[in-house]
Amino acid sequence: MQSWEDPIADVRPNTTSATAPAVFTEPTPVIEALGEPAQGRKDTTVTEATEGLQELRQQHETKEKGANKNGGVTGLEGIEMGASRIQVDDKKIINCRADLNQLVPFKYEWAWQKYLDGCANHWMPQEINMTADIALWKNPEGLTEDERTVIKRNLGFFSTADSLVANNLVLAVYRHITNPECRQYLLRQAFEEAVHTHAYQYCIESLGLDEGEVFNMYREIPSVARKAEWALPYTNSLGDPDFTTGSIEDNQRLLRDLIAFYVVFEGIFFYVGFVQILSMGRRNKMTGVAEQFQYILRDESMHMNFGIDVINQIKLENPQLWTDSFQQEMIEIIKGGVELETKYAYDTMPRGILGLNAPMFEEYLKFIANRRFAQIGLPQQYPSASNPFPWMSEILDLKKEKNFFETRVTEYQTGGVLTW
Ligand SMILES: [Fe+2]
Ligand SMILES: [Fe+2]
Repeated sequence: MQSWEDPIADVRPNTTSATAPAVFTEPTPVIEALGEPAQGRKDTTVTEATEGLQELRQQHETKEKGANKNGGVTGLEGIEMGASRIQVDDKKIINCRADLNQLVPFKYEWAWQKYLDGCANHWMPQEINMTADIALWKNPEGLTEDERTVIKRNLGFFSTADSLVANNLVLAVYRHITNPECRQYLLRQAFEEAVHTHAYQYCIESLGLDEGEVFNMYREIPSVARKAEWALPYTNSLGDPDFTTGSIEDNQRLLRDLIAFYVVFEGIFFYVGFVQILSMGRRNKMTGVAEQFQYILRDESMHMNFGIDVINQIKLENPQLWTDSFQQEMIEIIKGGVELETKYAYDTMPRGILGLNAPMFEEYLKFIANRRFAQIGLPQQYPSASNPFPWMSEILDLKKEKNFFETRVTEYQTGGVLTW
């Protein structure tokens, strides 16, 4: 079964593990674990035994150097010969001290399941036929100027935004999530972000757009720049090689980054663009670009839900982080994201196109923000918001909508893994 969630569907039950917070277990020091090497080796000389002991001490020191001082291990520590085997309860989502190179036993089945689902939905941008889009784009009568602006603005925002998300994942988040099954999903997600950047590049190249213009929009067009600029402070501190988790303040910093990127950046900032492009596809315009976006939306929906599971698991294992003032700060961060994305909607469609207008987006953003609040256990902030785009939830259901754009069967699977 697929486990990606409709980002605008009713709030699902919390699927995070109800397991009690893992008990902290200090790994057995290597020397202790092996015993005195000389005693256990009857066929070795005293010199060989002493050398062996020195070697083990060196390994132990290397391990200590490789570990974060305050937080968890990184996975690059020296090998601890003969250490006790990993138990499920040794595993922790942050600040774990147990070996990170052993995928099993699983503790967070939801993370492994999302990894499997992500792999089952593998796709590549070149598989999508762009011929009709190229003809429409080149036809002077094909699209209005406003429609062209919407397409270019979105390619401009997303082409750099997905690289920003990938960089945050690999250079900041990955190191501090100390769980192998979550890291396995993060590696899959990182690849998917690369595919998304590839998809935007593929659209830009197919349509013959000015690459310099599109890739520089996040530095030249204020409404695009503001969204990237908003996100950068959240990733910068975690990207500092000296940053470690461990203290309440530093653990909150990680949690803040996760909420900023998964809930606001991927969970709110992407949605005006998704609706605009997918709405064109529904009207049989730019169907190739729209189909690329449909696949991307499906991936992003899973990314966001994985991020929400991680956030909730961190909260479960570290309830002391979720203080009233921290919750209030997160509410303000999310509301700030809604305001910025609303400005983007007004900027990209000042007059309204395709039956869409900026006030509808404002309503939609409040509606999905309410879902995001609820998903991470915060009170909804926009009580009367309703959904002006109910068709967005249908788009995610690829089985039902498999001929949606009538370009190709969008149901994609590898290895017969999916059961519809
Ligand atoms: Fe992406
Ligand atoms: Fe993503």
